[in-house]
Amino acid sequence: MNTVRVDVDLGPRSYPVLIGSELLPGLGNLLREHGLHQTQAFVITNAAVGALYFERVEASLREAGFLRVVRHDIPASEEGKNWEEFSGSCAALLEAFPETGSVPLVLLLGGGVVGDLGGFVAGVFRRGVPFVQLPTTLLSAVDSSVGGKVAVNFGGVKNIMGIFNQPRLVVCDLSTLATLSGRELRSGMAEVVKYGGVCSGSLFEQLEGDHGRGALENMLALDPPTLTDIVAQCVRLKAGVVAQDEFDKKGIRNVLNFGHTIGHALELSADYALAHGEAIAIGMMAATRLALSLGLCEPSFLSRLESLLRRAALPLSHPDHPGLFERVLRAMQMDKKFKDGKNLFVLPTGVGAWQQVQNVPWDLVHAAVRSVLRADTGDR
Ligand code: NAD
Ligand code: GLY
Repeated sequence: MNTVRVDVDLGPRSYPVLIGSELLPGLGNLLREHGLHQTQAFVITNAAVGALYFERVEASLREAGFLRVVRHDIPASEEGKNWEEFSGSCAALLEAFPETGSVPLVLLLGGGVVGDLGGFVAGVFRRGVPFVQLPTTLLSAVDSSVGGKVAVNFGGVKNIMGIFNQPRLVVCDLSTLATLSGRELRSGMAEVVKYGGVCSGSLFEQLEGDHGRGALENMLALDPPTLTDIVAQCVRLKAGVVAQDEFDKKGIRNVLNFGHTIGHALELSADYALAHGEAIAIGMMAATRLALSLGLCEPSFLSRLESLLRRAALPLSHPDHPGLFERVLRAMQMDKKFKDGKNLFVLPTGVGAWQQVQNVPWDLVHAAVRSVLRADTGDR
Protein backbone atom coordinates (compact mmCIF):
# COMPACT_ATOMS: atom_id res chain seq x y z
CA MET A 1 0.00 0.00 0.00
CA ASN A 2 1.40 3.36 -1.03
CA THR A 3 2.10 6.09 1.47
CA VAL A 4 0.22 9.29 0.72
CA ARG A 5 1.91 12.62 1.34
CA VAL A 6 -0.09 15.77 2.09
CA ASP A 7 1.79 19.04 2.43
CA VAL A 8 0.75 21.63 4.95
CA ASP A 9 1.80 24.79 3.19
CA LEU A 10 2.77 27.41 5.77
CA GLY A 11 5.82 29.06 4.22
CA PRO A 12 8.81 28.53 6.53
CA ARG A 13 6.70 26.37 8.85
CA SER A 14 5.52 23.99 6.09
CA TYR A 15 5.68 20.25 6.71
CA PRO A 16 4.55 16.99 5.18
CA VAL A 17 1.99 14.58 6.62
CA LEU A 18 2.77 10.98 5.64
CA ILE A 19 -0.22 8.65 5.75
CA GLY A 20 0.10 4.90 5.27
CA SER A 21 0.42 1.48 6.83
CA GLU A 22 3.35 0.03 8.82
CA LEU A 23 5.24 3.32 8.87
CA LEU A 24 6.57 3.17 12.45
CA PRO A 25 9.15 0.41 11.78
CA GLY A 26 10.74 2.73 9.20
CA LEU A 27 10.32 5.89 11.27
CA GLY A 28 14.05 6.55 11.81
CA ASN A 29 14.71 6.57 8.07
CA LEU A 30 11.67 8.75 7.40
CA LEU A 31 13.02 11.31 9.89
CA ARG A 32 16.39 11.32 8.15
CA GLU A 33 14.77 11.62 4.71
CA HIS A 34 12.91 14.66 5.96
CA GLY A 35 15.99 16.44 7.24
CA LEU A 36 15.76 15.56 10.93
CA HIS A 37 19.32 14.63 11.87
CA GLN A 38 19.21 14.68 15.68
CA THR A 39 20.78 11.80 17.58
CA GLN A 40 18.72 12.10 20.76
CA ALA A 41 14.98 11.71 21.15
CA PHE A 42 12.43 12.38 23.87
CA VAL A 43 9.26 10.36 23.26
CA ILE A 44 6.09 11.43 25.03
CA THR A 45 3.43 8.72 25.11
CA ASN A 46 1.24 6.96 27.68
CA ALA A 47 1.43 3.52 29.30
CA ALA A 48 -1.08 1.87 26.95
CA VAL A 49 0.25 3.25 23.67
CA GLY A 50 3.86 2.99 24.83
CA ALA A 51 3.40 -0.70 25.66
CA LEU A 52 2.12 -1.31 22.14
CA TYR A 53 4.39 0.86 19.99
CA PHE A 54 7.36 2.34 21.87
CA GLU A 55 9.67 -0.62 21.24
CA ARG A 56 9.26 -0.47 17.48
CA VAL A 57 9.74 3.30 17.51
CA GLU A 58 12.89 2.97 19.61
CA ALA A 59 14.32 0.16 17.46
CA SER A 60 13.79 2.14 14.30
CA LEU A 61 15.36 5.28 15.81
CA ARG A 62 18.43 3.31 16.93
CA GLU A 63 18.76 1.75 13.48
CA ALA A 64 18.83 5.26 12.04
CA GLY A 65 21.63 6.33 14.39
CA PHE A 66 19.86 7.76 17.42
CA LEU A 67 22.18 7.29 20.40
CA ARG A 68 19.73 8.09 23.15
CA VAL A 69 15.97 7.61 23.30
CA VAL A 70 14.15 8.69 26.47
CA ARG A 71 10.51 7.77 27.04
CA HIS A 72 8.12 9.82 29.16
CA ASP A 73 4.55 8.70 29.93
CA ILE A 74 1.60 10.88 30.78
CA PRO A 75 -1.78 9.52 31.99
CA ALA A 76 -4.12 8.26 29.28
CA SER A 77 -7.12 10.29 28.15
CA GLU A 78 -8.19 13.81 28.96
CA GLU A 79 -7.06 13.57 32.59
CA GLY A 80 -3.48 13.64 31.28
CA LYS A 81 -4.00 16.97 29.54
CA ASN A 82 -3.45 19.41 32.37
CA TRP A 83 -0.96 21.86 33.76
CA GLU A 84 0.58 19.38 36.24
CA GLU A 85 1.35 16.87 33.48
CA PHE A 86 2.62 19.66 31.24
CA SER A 87 4.93 20.83 34.01
CA GLY A 88 5.94 17.22 34.82
CA SER A 89 6.82 16.62 31.17
CA CYS A 90 8.92 19.82 31.05
CA ALA A 91 10.72 18.66 34.21
CA ALA A 92 11.39 15.21 32.72
CA LEU A 93 12.70 16.79 29.52
CA LEU A 94 15.02 19.09 31.44
CA GLU A 95 16.24 16.23 33.63
CA ALA A 96 17.00 14.09 30.58
CA PHE A 97 18.59 16.91 28.57
CA PRO A 98 20.06 19.41 31.04
CA GLU A 99 22.77 20.75 28.75
CA THR A 100 21.83 23.72 26.59
CA GLY A 101 23.78 22.29 23.66
CA SER A 102 21.91 18.97 23.49
CA VAL A 103 18.68 19.48 21.60
CA PRO A 104 16.56 16.33 21.39
CA LEU A 105 13.91 15.62 18.79
CA VAL A 106 10.56 15.38 20.60
CA LEU A 107 8.31 12.60 19.32
CA LEU A 108 4.63 12.50 20.27
CA LEU A 109 3.36 8.93 20.14
CA GLY A 110 -0.35 8.76 20.89
CA GLY A 111 -3.69 10.43 20.40
CA GLY A 112 -4.75 14.04 20.67
CA VAL A 113 -3.96 14.28 24.37
CA VAL A 114 -0.29 13.32 23.91
CA GLY A 115 -0.08 15.47 20.76
CA ASP A 116 -1.69 18.57 22.30
CA LEU A 117 0.33 18.44 25.53
CA GLY A 118 3.59 17.37 23.90
CA GLY A 119 3.46 20.04 21.19
CA PHE A 120 3.07 22.65 23.92
CA VAL A 121 6.04 21.21 25.85
CA ALA A 122 8.19 21.19 22.69
CA GLY A 123 7.14 24.76 21.92
CA VAL A 124 8.26 26.25 25.21
CA PHE A 125 11.27 24.11 26.20
CA ARG A 126 14.30 26.27 25.45
CA ARG A 127 11.93 28.51 23.44
CA GLY A 128 11.17 25.66 21.12
CA VAL A 129 12.66 22.34 20.06
CA PRO A 130 11.64 20.41 16.92
CA PHE A 131 8.87 17.84 17.25
CA VAL A 132 7.13 15.18 15.21
CA GLN A 133 3.55 13.98 15.60
CA LEU A 134 2.97 10.21 15.50
CA PRO A 135 -0.83 10.01 15.76
CA THR A 136 -2.26 6.66 16.87
CA THR A 137 -5.97 7.46 17.03
CA LEU A 138 -8.30 8.21 14.13
CA LEU A 139 -9.11 11.56 15.71
CA SER A 140 -5.50 12.60 15.95
CA ALA A 141 -4.81 11.31 12.43
CA VAL A 142 -7.54 13.41 10.81
CA ASP A 143 -7.44 16.43 13.05
CA SER A 144 -5.30 17.14 16.10
CA SER A 145 -1.87 16.13 14.74
CA VAL A 146 -2.17 18.70 11.94
CA GLY A 147 -2.42 22.46 12.25
CA GLY A 148 -0.24 23.30 15.23
CA LYS A 149 -2.82 24.04 17.91
CA VAL A 150 -1.26 22.66 21.08
CA ALA A 151 -2.59 23.21 24.58
CA VAL A 152 -3.64 21.83 27.95
CA ASN A 153 -6.81 22.32 29.97
CA PHE A 154 -6.56 24.66 32.93
CA GLY A 155 -8.90 26.09 35.57
CA GLY A 156 -11.75 23.97 34.27
CA VAL A 157 -11.42 25.39 30.75
CA LYS A 158 -10.49 23.25 27.77
CA ASN A 159 -7.34 24.12 25.83
CA ILE A 160 -7.02 27.48 27.58
CA MET A 161 -3.23 27.33 28.03
CA GLY A 162 -1.49 26.83 24.73
CA ILE A 163 0.32 28.13 21.70
CA PHE A 164 0.53 27.63 17.95
CA ASN A 165 3.45 25.33 17.24
CA GLN A 166 3.75 23.41 13.99
CA PRO A 167 5.45 19.99 13.92
CA ARG A 168 8.33 19.32 11.53
CA LEU A 169 6.65 16.18 10.26
CA VAL A 170 3.57 14.05 10.89
CA VAL A 171 3.90 10.29 10.42
CA CYS A 172 0.48 8.73 10.52
CA ASP A 173 0.79 4.94 10.70
CA LEU A 174 -2.77 3.74 10.19
CA SER A 175 -1.82 0.19 11.22
CA THR A 176 -1.84 1.45 14.82
CA LEU A 177 -5.61 1.88 14.60
CA ALA A 178 -5.95 -1.92 14.79
CA THR A 179 -5.45 -1.78 18.56
CA LEU A 180 -7.72 1.21 19.15
CA SER A 181 -10.96 0.48 21.00
CA GLY A 182 -14.15 0.57 18.95
CA ARG A 183 -15.31 3.51 21.04
CA GLU A 184 -12.22 5.59 20.25
CA LEU A 185 -12.39 4.66 16.56
CA ARG A 186 -16.00 5.88 16.46
CA SER A 187 -15.00 9.02 18.33
CA GLY A 188 -12.60 9.82 15.48
CA MET A 189 -15.40 9.21 12.97
CA ALA A 190 -17.23 12.22 14.43
CA GLU A 191 -14.45 14.52 13.19
CA VAL A 192 -14.49 12.77 9.80
CA VAL A 193 -18.24 13.39 9.54
CA LYS A 194 -17.57 17.00 10.59
CA TYR A 195 -15.26 17.53 7.59
CA GLY A 196 -17.84 16.08 5.25
CA GLY A 197 -20.67 18.02 6.88
CA VAL A 198 -19.23 21.50 6.48
CA CYS A 199 -16.13 21.27 4.26
CA SER A 200 -16.81 18.72 1.54
CA GLY A 201 -20.10 17.50 0.12
CA SER A 202 -18.30 14.81 -1.89
CA LEU A 203 -16.67 13.39 1.26
CA PHE A 204 -20.06 13.39 3.00
CA GLU A 205 -21.58 11.49 0.09
CA GLN A 206 -18.68 9.04 -0.01
CA LEU A 207 -19.19 8.33 3.70
CA GLU A 208 -22.90 7.77 3.08
CA GLY A 209 -22.37 5.47 0.07
CA ASP A 210 -25.28 3.49 -1.33
CA HIS A 211 -27.98 1.48 0.42
CA GLY A 212 -26.75 2.32 3.92
CA ARG A 213 -23.17 1.16 3.33
CA GLY A 214 -20.38 3.53 2.41
CA ALA A 215 -16.87 4.58 3.25
CA LEU A 216 -18.00 5.05 6.85
CA GLU A 217 -18.53 1.31 7.32
CA ASN A 218 -15.28 0.48 5.48
CA MET A 219 -13.38 2.79 7.78
CA LEU A 220 -14.91 1.24 10.87
CA ALA A 221 -13.84 -2.14 9.45
CA LEU A 222 -10.31 -0.66 9.09
CA ASP A 223 -10.15 -1.29 5.36
CA PRO A 224 -6.63 0.06 4.57
CA PRO A 225 -7.33 1.72 1.17
CA THR A 226 -10.47 3.43 2.48
CA LEU A 227 -8.71 4.55 5.65
CA THR A 228 -5.77 5.99 3.71
CA ASP A 229 -8.04 7.72 1.22
CA ILE A 230 -10.40 9.29 3.77
CA VAL A 231 -7.70 10.25 6.28
CA ALA A 232 -5.78 11.92 3.43
CA GLN A 233 -8.92 13.78 2.31
CA CYS A 234 -9.50 15.06 5.85
CA VAL A 235 -5.87 16.11 6.26
CA ARG A 236 -6.00 17.90 2.88
CA LEU A 237 -9.15 19.73 3.95
CA LYS A 238 -7.61 20.72 7.27
CA ALA A 239 -4.31 21.72 5.64
CA GLY A 240 -6.24 23.94 3.21
CA VAL A 241 -8.07 25.70 6.03
CA VAL A 242 -4.96 26.09 8.20
CA ALA A 243 -2.95 27.47 5.26
CA GLN A 244 -5.51 30.29 4.95
CA ASP A 245 -5.79 31.06 8.66
CA GLU A 246 -2.90 29.50 10.55
CA PHE A 247 -3.32 31.66 13.65
CA ASP A 248 -7.11 31.53 13.79
CA LYS A 249 -7.45 35.27 13.26
CA LYS A 250 -9.52 35.49 10.08
CA GLY A 251 -12.56 33.42 11.01
CA ILE A 252 -11.74 30.86 8.30
CA ARG A 253 -10.41 28.27 10.76
CA ASN A 254 -13.69 28.47 12.68
CA VAL A 255 -15.15 26.00 10.20
CA LEU A 256 -13.21 23.28 12.05
CA ASN A 257 -15.28 24.09 15.10
CA PHE A 258 -18.61 22.86 13.75
CA GLY A 259 -20.23 21.12 16.74
CA HIS A 260 -17.53 22.31 19.13
CA THR A 261 -19.29 25.25 20.88
CA ILE A 262 -21.93 23.11 22.54
CA GLY A 263 -19.83 19.92 22.22
CA HIS A 264 -16.81 21.25 24.15
CA ALA A 265 -19.11 22.72 26.81
CA LEU A 266 -20.84 19.37 27.22
CA GLU A 267 -17.54 17.48 27.25
CA LEU A 268 -16.37 19.64 30.13
CA SER A 269 -19.70 19.74 31.98
CA ALA A 270 -20.06 15.97 31.79
CA ASP A 271 -16.67 15.73 33.53
CA TYR A 272 -15.08 14.07 30.51
CA ALA A 273 -17.38 11.04 30.65
CA LEU A 274 -17.69 11.55 26.89
CA ALA A 275 -14.85 10.91 24.45
CA HIS A 276 -14.00 14.09 22.51
CA GLY A 277 -15.64 12.92 19.28
CA GLU A 278 -18.76 11.76 21.13
CA ALA A 279 -19.18 15.27 22.51
CA ILE A 280 -18.65 16.71 19.03
CA ALA A 281 -21.26 14.36 17.54
CA ILE A 282 -23.81 15.65 20.06
CA GLY A 283 -22.61 19.22 19.46
CA MET A 284 -23.12 18.84 15.69
CA MET A 285 -26.70 17.67 16.28
CA ALA A 286 -27.35 20.71 18.51
CA ALA A 287 -25.70 23.15 16.06
CA THR A 288 -27.67 21.71 13.15
CA ARG A 289 -30.94 22.10 15.05
CA LEU A 290 -29.92 25.70 15.69
CA ALA A 291 -29.27 26.18 11.96
CA LEU A 292 -32.71 24.69 11.24
CA SER A 293 -34.43 26.99 13.71
CA LEU A 294 -32.73 29.97 12.01
CA GLY A 295 -33.84 28.73 8.59
CA LEU A 296 -30.22 28.25 7.47
CA CYS A 297 -30.43 24.61 6.44
CA GLU A 298 -32.94 22.04 5.29
CA PRO A 299 -34.34 19.29 7.56
CA SER A 300 -32.80 16.78 5.14
CA PHE A 301 -29.31 17.83 6.30
CA LEU A 302 -30.21 17.03 9.89
CA SER A 303 -31.56 13.60 8.95
CA ARG A 304 -28.52 12.76 6.81
CA LEU A 305 -26.15 13.86 9.60
CA GLU A 306 -28.14 11.92 12.17
CA SER A 307 -28.11 8.83 9.99
CA LEU A 308 -24.30 8.93 9.54
CA LEU A 309 -23.70 9.48 13.26
CA ARG A 310 -26.05 6.59 14.09
CA ARG A 311 -24.23 4.35 11.61
CA ALA A 312 -21.01 5.19 13.48
CA ALA A 313 -22.85 4.32 16.73
CA LEU A 314 -22.09 7.79 18.06
CA PRO A 315 -24.32 9.36 20.71
CA LEU A 316 -26.81 11.98 19.55
CA SER A 317 -27.70 13.21 23.03
CA HIS A 318 -26.53 12.98 26.64
CA PRO A 319 -28.46 11.99 29.78
CA ASP A 320 -29.66 15.08 31.59
CA HIS A 321 -29.14 15.57 35.30
CA PRO A 322 -29.87 18.45 37.67
CA GLY A 323 -27.71 21.46 36.92
CA LEU A 324 -26.22 20.09 33.68
CA PHE A 325 -28.05 22.52 31.39
CA GLU A 326 -26.80 25.49 33.44
CA ARG A 327 -23.25 24.09 33.51
CA VAL A 328 -23.25 23.69 29.75
CA LEU A 329 -24.41 27.29 29.28
CA ARG A 330 -21.71 28.55 31.67
CA ALA A 331 -19.04 26.48 29.92
CA MET A 332 -20.17 27.90 26.56
CA GLN A 333 -19.24 31.34 27.88
CA MET A 334 -15.64 30.17 28.19
CA ASP A 335 -15.57 29.31 24.48
CA LYS A 336 -12.90 31.22 22.57
CA LYS A 337 -15.56 32.49 20.18
CA PHE A 338 -17.70 34.00 23.00
CA LYS A 339 -17.71 37.78 22.58
CA ASP A 340 -19.93 40.66 23.71
CA GLY A 341 -22.12 38.29 25.70
CA LYS A 342 -22.83 36.01 22.74
CA ASN A 343 -21.46 32.82 21.26
CA LEU A 344 -20.35 32.71 17.66
CA PHE A 345 -21.83 29.57 16.13
CA VAL A 346 -20.50 27.65 13.16
CA LEU A 347 -23.66 26.43 11.46
CA PRO A 348 -24.21 24.18 8.45
CA THR A 349 -26.07 25.71 5.53
CA GLY A 350 -26.18 22.57 3.39
CA VAL A 351 -23.94 19.58 2.81
CA GLY A 352 -20.34 20.82 2.71
CA ALA A 353 -21.27 24.45 3.41
CA TRP A 354 -21.32 26.63 6.51
CA GLN A 355 -21.80 30.08 7.92
CA GLN A 356 -20.91 31.70 11.23
CA VAL A 357 -23.63 33.48 13.15
CA GLN A 358 -23.08 35.69 16.19
CA ASN A 359 -26.40 37.08 17.34
CA VAL A 360 -28.43 33.94 17.84
CA PRO A 361 -31.42 34.59 20.15
CA TRP A 362 -30.86 32.94 23.54
CA ASP A 363 -34.18 31.07 23.45
CA LEU A 364 -33.02 29.26 20.28
CA VAL A 365 -29.63 28.47 21.84
CA HIS A 366 -31.37 27.14 24.96
CA ALA A 367 -33.69 25.00 22.85
CA ALA A 368 -30.72 23.57 20.90
CA VAL A 369 -28.88 22.66 24.11
CA ARG A 370 -32.03 21.16 25.66
CA SER A 371 -32.60 19.13 22.49
CA VAL A 372 -29.47 17.08 23.21
CA LEU A 373 -30.09 16.57 26.96
CA ARG A 374 -32.47 13.68 27.40
CA ALA A 375 -34.37 12.22 30.34
CA ASP A 376 -32.48 8.94 30.44
CA THR A 377 -34.64 6.40 28.71
CA GLY A 378 -31.63 4.72 27.16
CA ASP A 379 -32.45 6.11 23.69
CA ARG A 380 -29.37 7.78 22.22
P1 NAD B 1 -6.75 10.39 23.45
O1 NAD B 1 -5.48 10.99 23.09
O2 NAD B 1 -7.25 10.58 24.84
O3 NAD B 1 -6.73 8.85 23.11
C1 NAD B 1 -7.88 8.08 23.39
C2 NAD B 1 -7.53 6.78 24.10
O4 NAD B 1 -7.01 5.88 23.12
C3 NAD B 1 -6.48 6.88 25.19
O5 NAD B 1 -6.89 6.10 26.27
C4 NAD B 1 -5.23 6.32 24.54
O6 NAD B 1 -4.37 5.70 25.47
C5 NAD B 1 -5.81 5.28 23.61
N1 NAD B 1 -5.01 4.99 22.43
C6 NAD B 1 -4.44 5.88 21.59
N2 NAD B 1 -3.94 5.27 20.53
C7 NAD B 1 -4.14 3.95 20.68
C8 NAD B 1 -3.86 2.81 19.90
N3 NAD B 1 -3.33 2.89 18.69
N4 NAD B 1 -4.19 1.60 20.40
C9 NAD B 1 -4.80 1.50 21.61
N5 NAD B 1 -5.14 2.55 22.37
C10 NAD B 1 -4.81 3.77 21.91
O7 NAD B 1 -7.96 10.92 22.53
P2 NAD B 1 -8.03 11.51 21.05
O8 NAD B 1 -9.44 11.32 20.68
O9 NAD B 1 -6.98 11.00 20.18
O10 NAD B 1 -7.74 13.06 21.26
C11 NAD B 1 -8.64 13.87 21.98
C12 NAD B 1 -7.96 15.17 22.31
O11 NAD B 1 -7.61 15.83 21.09
C13 NAD B 1 -8.83 16.13 23.09
O12 NAD B 1 -8.10 16.64 24.16
C14 NAD B 1 -9.13 17.23 22.10
O13 NAD B 1 -9.32 18.48 22.71
C15 NAD B 1 -7.90 17.20 21.24
N6 NAD B 1 -8.08 17.78 19.88
C16 NAD B 1 -7.16 18.68 19.47
C17 NAD B 1 -7.25 19.23 18.21
C18 NAD B 1 -6.18 20.17 17.73
O14 NAD B 1 -6.35 20.77 16.66
N7 NAD B 1 -5.09 20.32 18.44
C19 NAD B 1 -8.29 18.85 17.36
C20 NAD B 1 -9.22 17.91 17.81
C21 NAD B 1 -9.10 17.38 19.09
N1 GLY C 1 -9.40 21.58 15.69
C1 GLY C 1 -9.61 22.98 15.48
C2 GLY C 1 -8.46 23.65 14.79
O1 GLY C 1 -7.45 23.03 14.53
O2 GLY C 1 -8.55 24.80 14.51
